[in-house]
Amino acid sequence: NWNMADYIEEEIARIRKQVGQGKVICGLSGGVDSAVASAIVHKAIGDQLTCIFVDHGLLRKGEAEQVKRTFGEEFNIPLIYVDAKKRFLDRLAGVTEPEAKRKIIGDEFIQVFDEEAEKIKDVGYLVQGTIYSDVIESGGTDKAATIKSHHNVGGLPEEMNLELVEPLRFLFKDEVRKIGEVLGLPKEIVWRQPFPGPGLAIRIIGDIDWDKLEILRNADAIVQEEIKDAGLYRDIWQSFAVLPDLRSVGVMGDERTYGYPIILRAVNSDDAMTADWARLPYELLQSISNRIVNQVPEVNRVVYDITSKPPGTIEWE
Ligand code: XMP
Repeated sequence: NWNMADYIEEEIARIRKQVGQGKVICGLSGGVDSAVASAIVHKAIGDQLTCIFVDHGLLRKGEAEQVKRTFGEEFNIPLIYVDAKKRFLDRLAGVTEPEAKRKIIGDEFIQVFDEEAEKIKDVGYLVQGTIYSDVIESGGTDKAATIKSHHNVGGLPEEMNLELVEPLRFLFKDEVRKIGEVLGLPKEIVWRQPFPGPGLAIRIIGDIDWDKLEILRNADAIVQEEIKDAGLYRDIWQSFAVLPDLRSVGVMGDERTYGYPIILRAVNSDDAMTADWARLPYELLQSISNRIVNQVPEVNRVVYDITSKPPGTIEWE
């Protein structure tokens, strides 16, 4: 680990030199890259850094609280928490088309972030958690790069006129995680599987409302817990629940039910460009299914997606 410690020291020196006495802002998403980037910058320049966390209400269970706890309380980084749940949900109401959802979320994110950034006087710099593979991807002109261009929610407009601070630019994902560990970030953040910027909005098929978000959050929390308990969380690229916009008939005791199914998705991958469905043990599938139908009252069926990418994408939208 000593070379990671060296990397941190070198970055700290570089950041200090770059920003001097300037004020710096950073957007936190809950993911590992923005977390590690802001932790390094804070180590370098302390309270010249302010983090902004826009809570769009589309995160998984407990994630918003964890960001507040880790950065606001444990790391003591000046943190602006913006409860924008209502704004996002109002704008998303009735929207069913996946790309339309992405656009709304991306636009709204920029608007909220911009409003908050303007309240801080004389900001000159913006931290971005860009890692080496992002640098390569955005430089490429191939089709895959174009397909993924819409994926970076959180991209901010150039007219904000801020100089970028990118402490992870030369790191691969596994190195970012190592640095996160050296910096003492919690392992739930350091080892978090990739999670899309538009969050649960693209894991609810069709239109979104708070009730559906809560159903999905509850089912997804069970998936995360079971995969972790089985010791598979770090080996699997992504594992999650999807809530479709259909219902089916079931039976519970003597009663007929008419409820939602949950689609379970778990894939192995190296870079998300291709993926293979994970051969989860039957016992694990069984306990995920049992717990979801018993503990999430709106759900009466669990199905497992056994499609690889291509032709299926990892996400359902
Ligand atoms: P797909 O579904 O295209 O996903 O196979 C490939 C990877 O990208 C993630 N993903 C997104 N990430 N914004 C993001 O930041 C998005 O709109 C988005 N859509 C998909 C997906 O989770 C997977 O890791």
